[in-house]
Amino acid sequence: MINSSKRYTILTWGCQMNEHDSEKMSGILESLGYINTDKKEEADLIILNTCLVRENAEFKVYGNLGELKALKRENPDLIIAICGCMMQKKEIRDIIKEKYKFVDIIFGTHNIHKLPELIANHNQHTRMIIDVWEDAGNIVEGIPAKRKYGFKAFVNIMYGCNNFCSYCIVPYTRGREKSREPEDIVNEIKNLADEGFKEVTLLGQNVNSYGKSLDSKITFADLLYLINDIDGIERIRFMTSHPKDLSDELIYAIKKCNKVCEHIHLPFQAGSNKILKLMNRKYTKEQYLELVKKIKDEIPNISLTTDIIVGFPGETEEDFMETIDIVKKAEFDSAFTFLYSIREGTPAAKMENQIPEEIKHKRLKKLLDVLNPISHDKNSQLLNTVQEVLVEETSKTDSTILSGRTRTSKLVHFEGDTDLIGKIVKVKINNTKTWTLEGTITNGE
Ligand code: SAH
Ligand code: SF4
Ligand code: F3S
Repeated sequence: MINSSKRYTILTWGCQMNEHDSEKMSGILESLGYINTDKKEEADLIILNTCLVRENAEFKVYGNLGELKALKRENPDLIIAICGCMMQKKEIRDIIKEKYKFVDIIFGTHNIHKLPELIANHNQHTRMIIDVWEDAGNIVEGIPAKRKYGFKAFVNIMYGCNNFCSYCIVPYTRGREKSREPEDIVNEIKNLADEGFKEVTLLGQNVNSYGKSLDSKITFADLLYLINDIDGIERIRFMTSHPKDLSDELIYAIKKCNKVCEHIHLPFQAGSNKILKLMNRKYTKEQYLELVKKIKDEIPNISLTTDIIVGFPGETEEDFMETIDIVKKAEFDSAFTFLYSIREGTPAAKMENQIPEEIKHKRLKKLLDVLNPISHDKNSQLLNTVQEVLVEETSKTDSTILSGRTRTSKLVHFEGDTDLIGKIVKVKINNTKTWTLEGTITNGE
């Protein structure tokens, strides 16, 4: 039995999948009697949950490891564990073995449920324990999660990815696509509703292909209808949608299901058909724009966000201008923009005509100069409207200012009392900025 006074901290990089994995690890550790701490100096166990999607995510982890070495010297009983996507790569595990010998436990993305065993084994042995699985095997259900908020929750609906976009490391770190059984998802969300949760975000690398790995014929649209019927849940979100799989049936379901929020994150990555082909994205610029038009025609108040990569190998100035063209035509509410980052082991890493860093930076700046005024303009259209907002937290600098999100996932700041946190309120928007909205709580329409 682990002493109940032991403390843990988890540092997390990467996407919502990783954030939710960290919530599960917290759940597991607290069921063992561990107590959470924010202070690394106080911790008996520090876990680094890593991301490999771009080079800078990797650098941050090595930076942190340097710092942890000093802590370990001061407190030799400290257990340091590293997991997450970086650990799925043998070359990186070898670097850790070679250069960071003070690390105690290495595990991967497929076996976080083994954490109690790994810690117990470590307490018996002093050598570095390495346990990384190449693929997931069966989905493990019933891992307790200690969620960050008490009113909104991440729910995995599927794991892994089969798409192999040529730049992307995720299919190698998360394995093949596997959907959870609909009953398991619905039961988890029913339990969340019983505990008072109001919002769920359904997670998958490509939620639109939900169900393909199951024996039953269920689609993502069917799943939305099932979840929409769960009493107590008031908002349903989902991430991410691959444009190649977004069906008419799904657009209709989003429109019909009153709890499904009016927001689609629909990464297009690049505008030129030549680059889209090299990226293995399986749609053209024209098909993407057609899809955007269809979505906006069906759901006029939809908020549309996206991911864009600049400087993919072989991207010419003309290719890049096609990206700018999509941005102007689709009028995104906001976008995540990335400089292409070489990921060893992916097909794009071996492509010729890699783009020099200074050109990537110039293109990124040009892209932001087009994107930002559009985001600002989209937000200004909400001036004087009344928005439904789920109150999330107080401002870090001023405890009388609350923040929350609209159904369209826009961040709103307004004055209010802290007991509104976790509740849905109406806010009249009276100031709009590029990234945020400001307003006042109102009772009327
Ligand atoms: N499954 C999701 C997102 C996965 S990663 C999807 O397909 O939309 C999140 C984003 O990181 C991607 O959408 C892409 O824009 C970006 N990304 C992935 N690999 C990258 C790389 N090698 N260089 C730069 N950006 C990358
Ligand atoms: Fe990566 Fe493409 Fe899969 Fe998204 S769909 S995780 S970008 S391979
Ligand atoms: Fe990063 Fe792994 Fe997510 S590589 S983006 S943490 S799936």
